[in-house]
Amino acid sequence: MDKVRFGIIGVGNIGHAHASCIAKGGIRGAVLGALCDIDEKKREKLVSEFPGVKVFEKVEDLINSGLVDAVIVATPHYFHPVYGIAALEKGIHLLSEKPAGVNVSEVLKLNETATSSNAKFGIMFNQRTDPLFRKAKEIIEAGGIGEPKRLVWIVTNWYRTQSYYDSGSWRATWNGEGGGVLINQAPHNIDLWQWLFGMPAKVTAFCHEGMYHNIAVEDDATIYAEYENGASAVFITTTGEAPGTNRLEISGDRGRLVLEKNELRYTKLAAAERDFCFAEKSSAAIPGTEEFVYKFDNVRDGHELILEDFVSAVLENKPMIAPGIEGINELSITNAAFLSSWTGRTVSLPLSEEDMAEFDGLLEKKKAEEEFIAGATGAGGKETYIKRWSVNW
Ligand SMILES: NC(=O)c1ccc[n+]([C@@H]2O[C@H](COP(=O)([O-])OP(=O)(O)OC[C@H]3O[C@@H](n4cnc5c(N)ncnc54)[C@H](O)[C@@H]3O)[C@@H](O)[C@H]2O)c1
Repeated sequence: MDKVRFGIIGVGNIGHAHASCIAKGGIRGAVLGALCDIDEKKREKLVSEFPGVKVFEKVEDLINSGLVDAVIVATPHYFHPVYGIAALEKGIHLLSEKPAGVNVSEVLKLNETATSSNAKFGIMFNQRTDPLFRKAKEIIEAGGIGEPKRLVWIVTNWYRTQSYYDSGSWRATWNGEGGGVLINQAPHNIDLWQWLFGMPAKVTAFCHEGMYHNIAVEDDATIYAEYENGASAVFITTTGEAPGTNRLEISGDRGRLVLEKNELRYTKLAAAERDFCFAEKSSAAIPGTEEFVYKFDNVRDGHELILEDFVSAVLENKPMIAPGIEGINELSITNAAFLSSWTGRTVSLPLSEEDMAEFDGLLEKKKAEEEFIAGATGAGGKETYIKRWSVNW
């Protein structure tokens, strides 16, 4: 194989962006093989927009068509593991949109299928390609902050208006999305949190549903997490605050990283703080510091980079920036956060069988009780939506 033929399942906002990019030759080694969407009107438009590309109504027909080597699943979240498993079982490579799913219990099955399949499995965590985060990871892995102490991420610039939520009937519903800001907007940030700082051992969270919008799901969340080594993390996010802040601070006993306003500031300590604390005789001195500032210009779109990286994995067996089986990590944090908020207790990670079952049961209850915020006003919806991708991480 010298080109990967992609099938796109769910050709909405992001699926369409992937299809257009591949069709115009924007991804080295990729061609558009077929498309699939349940929406008849969309299918009609796709047929004229992508001449010569077969458009399917049913996912199984696309998977069995012989026209695709890989699929991108860009449907609403609940379908990600369902179609992912269907593709992998047929030996078709899978690039899933984020999040990996809604329930960790379902994503475990997806990961099991991927592990026993020869097909590749990637996930669209495009922000992992951002050079600022890559540099932060490089510094952490080289021991630049030493023993991790604390991560604080305040990411409150995911602002959305009511018209965004009204732009599609699946949005911001337990039945359609399986959550709000934690399942839709924040997965990129939560993935980066665990990618840079590792998985916590315990999660306590406070999620507020419909706090700022006429929606059933949470639009404001605060997560407090603890690590085996005593380190902690605080993650605060909302879609209801303007102008909002996006500031990530990671500290350890040898230094600190601050990412804000497209800049990474690394402060390196001359001595490890734990040694300094007990060796220093004056009471309020701090270790000497050296500061490094990193900025990057002309950064290529992360979605394109993940697509190209995935193609390299398929064609050349290269390791991926965002392996699909890692999608379960951020989802485990959000499932634990929901469970903690719903029950008022601290939840341990990895999730136990009992906690997964309790989460699944409580989510089903929320779905059953949900008052649908029906219909789409469409007012400004699509434009607002597309703009959100350009939010600075
Ligand atoms: N990585 C990113 O930056 C990024 C950006 C946007 C969206 N996303 C993710 O992509 C997914 C889709 O989001 P969107 O905003 O494009 O949604 P959307 O509503 O615009 O598009 C979803 C499409 O899937 C189709 N669909 C629904 N059910 C289907 C089914 N059973 N079979 C086939 N097609 C089906 C719908 O008709 C629609 O065209 C979500 O999971 C979202 O979180 C990721």
